[in-house]
Amino acid sequence: MKSEQMPDSLQNSVDDDQVVSVLLGFLQYNEEIPDSRQFSAEHNFDHNQVVSVIQSLLGFRYIEAQDLVWETCVLTDEGKRYATQGSPEVQLFLAVPEEGSISLVDLKEKLGDSFQNFAIGYAKKNKWVEVQANQVSRKVQHVEDKLKELLLKIQEGKELHEDGIKFINERKKNLTESRNWKGYSSIKKGPRYAPKRKNLSTTLTRGNVEIWEELEFKEYNINAKGVPPESGHLQPLLKVRKQFKDIFVQMGFEEMPTNNYVESSFWNFDALFQPQQHPARDSHDTFFLKAPSTTRTLPEDYVERVKRVHESGGYGSRGYNYDWKREEANKNVLRTHTTAVSSRMLYEIAKKPFAPKKYFSIDRVFRNEAVDRTHLAEFHQIEGLICDRGLTLGDLIGVLKVFYSRLGISKLRFKPAYNPYTEPSMEIMSYHEGLGVWVEIGNSGMFRPEMLRPMGLPEDVQVIAWGLSLERPTMILYGIDNIRDLFGHKVDLDLIKRNPICRIGF
Ligand code: PHE
Repeated sequence: MKSEQMPDSLQNSVDDDQVVSVLLGFLQYNEEIPDSRQFSAEHNFDHNQVVSVIQSLLGFRYIEAQDLVWETCVLTDEGKRYATQGSPEVQLFLAVPEEGSISLVDLKEKLGDSFQNFAIGYAKKNKWVEVQANQVSRKVQHVEDKLKELLLKIQEGKELHEDGIKFINERKKNLTESRNWKGYSSIKKGPRYAPKRKNLSTTLTRGNVEIWEELEFKEYNINAKGVPPESGHLQPLLKVRKQFKDIFVQMGFEEMPTNNYVESSFWNFDALFQPQQHPARDSHDTFFLKAPSTTRTLPEDYVERVKRVHESGGYGSRGYNYDWKREEANKNVLRTHTTAVSSRMLYEIAKKPFAPKKYFSIDRVFRNEAVDRTHLAEFHQIEGLICDRGLTLGDLIGVLKVFYSRLGISKLRFKPAYNPYTEPSMEIMSYHEGLGVWVEIGNSGMFRPEMLRPMGLPEDVQVIAWGLSLERPTMILYGIDNIRDLFGHKVDLDLIKRNPICRIGF
């Protein structure tokens, strides 16, 4: 057991430049400095300071050195207390009067906070005191505080004999602990060694631009870590949302207004040609509102056309052949997808003379789901749509390839799928390099005429659209495997602070 820390009082306070010049000066005439500890002791420098100077000189390649790690023994808080106040058994012994005896109760009171139950055990075992009928009296008049002496030795960094180590280790409480230190050995001249450190320039300024040829510039240290900012940490979902938003904006998309979590079943389902018996419209899958339980207004003539297309079709469709109920359409829900936002938007643009449009939205949706590692009852959806004359499935595939390639995802596959409002529909799959499997990363399709024509969009206008969750790509990007660690009251704020401020690439 040996401590390498020097008591502070012995060290001079010197600035780093002095340490640098002594160290470089030493290497001018000597092959190497074998050990940073020995060097610090000989020059009366603080070892921590020498270590930080060596690190900086290594960075500039003035010197070369080997890492050195060693372990020392230091006192725990309890050990430190005994080293200053004495061991509990000696304190107890001193509190017992030289003559006569003291009751255990009085002894406890006299010692106050420094009373320890086990101290009586030690004092009895050492034959210092005896206890009879709860009265404590001395058996000897003088005792030595061996424990205190040993602890003081450790504190001063002195070496203990084997029996001393054994004595301390036999105590039940941990009075010492090991600590790792870092230093350097075999410190030698490096490839850019100079006996004196030059003041390297870091920036080209108006003042030094004319003499730039005479200046020597500091090399970039691309491994240097920046100072972590104290505040302004964005939630990962917000960061990824911004990335998606930027991609949409760069591709010429406009954002749709998403500022209503409460939506009528009409816009969320009926306008999307989703039949009223569809299982998604069950309270097991959807949150229905108690108050207000129904919507106040719907565009009547459009409602009429939606009813008709559900009941008997039109525009080349046979419809669903059931009795469409207005009460069902009036029911308020928490929107289950952002396609509800798209249906409102398309209805709005159908009122005006047709012009091609590209729209996107990113906002929260709600589903009455059992919560588990990958599902929450509320999450975010990203949705994009393009409406134009003569669009085809090829256009949809092309746009999706561009969209996902901007995220750095290039291997895509499309799988036939079903949505009540799109035909054809495709699941979007991407190859996950890390997992080595194809994973679903979105859903897409061409909106059906049964949805578009009742809105009043011209016959030759097609709408291609796709949607995906924001949580899933964020979890992949940030290596989070439980959605509850990303969103909700269990999120660890430290995780948000530790995440990189930005990432290059996706
Ligand atoms: N609304 C679909 C969903 O919730 C996504 C989607 C959007 C599918 C647009 C096709 C077209 O998964």
